[in-house]
Amino acid sequence: MSLTEKQIQLVTESWQSVVPIADTAGKLFYGRLFELDPSLRPMFKGDITSQGKKLMQVLGVAVNALNNLDNIIPALEDMAQRHVAYGVKEEHYETVGQALLWTLQQGLGDACTEEVIEAWTAVYTLIANTMMEAAAETA
Ligand code: HEM
Repeated sequence: MSLTEKQIQLVTESWQSVVPIADTAGKLFYGRLFELDPSLRPMFKGDITSQGKKLMQVLGVAVNALNNLDNIIPALEDMAQRHVAYGVKEEHYETVGQALLWTLQQGLGDACTEEVIEAWTAVYTLIANTMMEAAAETA
């Protein structure tokens, strides 16, 4: 699966609206994630606000690399291996994806059109699939 020019444009543009509210978005994201699956909460040992910042940072790096996603594959693979050590399983990626899309809807409001959601779904799927494949190879 690859991204269309239009999807890259939609994700890049919408991300610009998330950047100024990244801290809030991080908090919203984890709030939603633990609402969707409270059993995930104990997996997070550190401060959740700084965890939110780390997540937003990585998403920012990915958004900036959308035209050359191959460049960030090694970093995603390393991250996936660390995630195996955190106890992350394949099925968790679905829940994280849902929480992320919900957060984008909250953050973007009316600007979060069907097309924007589809574009972000494609981006998240690419990242998650890369991570899940690397995790499977580690196992
Ligand atoms: C697009 C997918 C994801 C991204 C970009 C992402 C990003 C990150 C980043 C940047 C960190 C900081 C530590 C590190 O780099 O190793 C982290 C830690 C962590 N992530 Fe993820 N993650 C993703 C998916 C998931 C999923 C599906 C879960 C499952 C619940 C998860 C659970 C965790 C946990 C438990 C930690 C460690 C937190 C702690 O030590 O307090 N992540 N993640």
